[in-house]
Amino acid sequence: MTRAPHLSSRLQGFGTTVFAEMSALAVATGSVNLGQGFPDYPGPPEVLDVARAAIGTDADQYPPGPGRIELREAVAEAYQRFRGLTYDPAAEVLVTAGATEALTAALLALLEGGDEVLLFEPMYDSYAAAVAMAGGVVRPVPLRPPVGNAGPWTFDPDEVRALVTPRTKLLLLNTPHNPTGKVFDAAELRFLGELAQAHDLLVLTDEVYEHLVFSGAEHRSIAALPGLRERTLVVGSAGKTFNVTGWKIGWISGPAPLVSAVRTAKQFLTYVNGGPFQPAVAAGLRLPDEHFAAIARDLEYRRDVLVQGLTDAGLPVISPEGTYFATVDVRSVQPDGDGLAFCRSLPERAGVVAIPTVVFYDPAHAHLGRHLVRFAFCKRNEVLAKAVTRLRKLG
Ligand SMILES: Cc1ncc(COP(=O)(O)O)c(C=O)c1O
Repeated sequence: MTRAPHLSSRLQGFGTTVFAEMSALAVATGSVNLGQGFPDYPGPPEVLDVARAAIGTDADQYPPGPGRIELREAVAEAYQRFRGLTYDPAAEVLVTAGATEALTAALLALLEGGDEVLLFEPMYDSYAAAVAMAGGVVRPVPLRPPVGNAGPWTFDPDEVRALVTPRTKLLLLNTPHNPTGKVFDAAELRFLGELAQAHDLLVLTDEVYEHLVFSGAEHRSIAALPGLRERTLVVGSAGKTFNVTGWKIGWISGPAPLVSAVRTAKQFLTYVNGGPFQPAVAAGLRLPDEHFAAIARDLEYRRDVLVQGLTDAGLPVISPEGTYFATVDVRSVQPDGDGLAFCRSLPERAGVVAIPTVVFYDPAHAHLGRHLVRFAFCKRNEVLAKAVTRLRKLG
């Protein structure tokens, strides 16, 4: 790999992302962009209206360092309501600039140089960069796609155990999982919780898709397992739940000493952000249960439209249990099985843009995801319909 000039050795290899390349390709070719995971339809008026009304008030000024109290209270209420977890809004909830800052601040706060982080790959792209910024080392465990594309992605518990060393400090979990759409089940979480306890690991769990789970699956937080709350930080975000990815309002919750450590790092990253959006997200988190059920139902419908369309186009799909994303095995339409080459040619072949799953792997394991491609379905019905029609050209 060529060295990027000026970039510190910690960040070599994290130069430019394929997301930027694919989004530029979508614009240049007039393609339907099913690459980046952001919705192209607005969030609930109950949330948007509060933000509009908050502009021009004291909410425009710096919020308190840990976030506006009404949002911290709403986050704590939501954990109680949905997960049965009790957090003190005064000391156990910290508002952050999206989940990304929560994760990065936590890793900067908790890791010593050389500490190892156990995590699953494919993995969300900020994890490896944030671990590198903190001077840590990633130890990725592969998730394996289901045989015949039916059923959930799985992992081998022995592979997890084998990667634990005396330097392992933290388990970084993501459920529901981007990019696979896997929702870790009760037995898997129990295994991981016991492992964390046996090796005295901290747990950082990214649950930004917690409300985007489809029938047949159920989101559970590892923090809710007996004995796990005290070693676990849970990360959430308004972006995915309320279709406001540009607001960058996230939060991190856990026992006071852990949250206090994260706050020390966070205060020197952004200090605070998104004043008028904080009361709006608080209003969103207080919407009735039915609202959250409707979000999941709506997205499940979009998933079904895309999965059917991809199947009709002759592309084998692994249907996700949650999130915004479906995974396709491209070997039947790309004889060399190269997902990156497939994505680079897809705008010309079909006028659609997707993301090669290979970019979510550590370079050492890239071969595991070479033949896979991620399509986002958090798009308006007419956009999905257009994409599906265009993809039929591949068949
Ligand atoms: C798994 C995962 N974590 C975190 C984020 C980032 O969330 P935010 O926009 O709140 O920083 C994303 C966004 O795509 C994600 O997929």
